[in-house]
Amino acid sequence: MTDHILIETPEDAPGVQIIRFNRPDKKNAITRAMYARMTEALQAANETASIRVNVFLGTEGCFSAGNDLADFLAFAMGGSMGNEVFDFLGALASSQKPVVSGVDGLAIGIGTTMHLHCDLTIASDRSVFRTPFVDLGLVPEAGSSLLAPRLMGNQRAFALLAAGETFTAAEAKDCGLIWKMTAPEAVEKETLALAAKLAAKPPEALKITRDLIRGPVEEILARIDEEARLFAARLKSAEARAAFEAFLSRSK
Ligand code: COA
Repeated sequence: MTDHILIETPEDAPGVQIIRFNRPDKKNAITRAMYARMTEALQAANETASIRVNVFLGTEGCFSAGNDLADFLAFAMGGSMGNEVFDFLGALASSQKPVVSGVDGLAIGIGTTMHLHCDLTIASDRSVFRTPFVDLGLVPEAGSSLLAPRLMGNQRAFALLAAGETFTAAEAKDCGLIWKMTAPEAVEKETLALAAKLAAKPPEALKITRDLIRGPVEEILARIDEEARLFAARLKSAEARAAFEAFLSRSK
């Protein structure tokens, strides 16, 4: 059990389960144990009537720097990848309960792409969204190669996923990646208030409405699988290994 993910059910937000990244010294980079804990929490929510909404939060100034690059390097060097990342992506894409996220600051890699699966995201005006997949010798994940062009059009999806451009919170809002922008100190309060409001709605009507808006999940799961195969092959590439080693051995 990792304490790098905290699960909270705040009294002042009944029906809300918070899944919080809590590894600030590593910019909330996500390890296999952290993915496993998040998957468990999403699955528990599906099976627990009293949990009506999941909320992802990070820490002050940092949502997440994405997958732990040391884990990627370990796989590139011949270690096991495990199923944790892909179990998490499956659980996120097929969550039966609404998923809300609150972002303050850095949102990188999967810290960006996971919002494509969220129903509502509030981000602070200082937040930045970036997916440096190609620069790391990798390819997009989390179904982002399907969901991003659908959401924002090919040009902006290319800028995000292929060119690795940084999107400001204003740009993320403009292209529909997030719903609302607010001040850093208001992110958590507003995100939880929004989630509590959703949690108080008639759950059946909300679920049917959400399912209609999201459409069938099969195509998304199939793209996640296809990306995963390509991603795993790329992790073993010389390009990727060189990029991970350069990051992990850089001098500050
Ligand atoms: N995996 C593993 N460790 C990471 C990490 C990641 N994705 N992101 C940050 N860290 C670690 C750093 O190695 C550093 O650890 P150390 O203090 O033991 O050396 C610590 O977190 C702080 O990071 P640092 O780079 O010093 O902070 P910064 O404010 O200068 O930069 C980032 C923050 C997020 C811009 C920078 O760390 C970064 O680019 N990280 C990689 C992001 C990435 O490529 N993610 C994968 C996408 S697929």
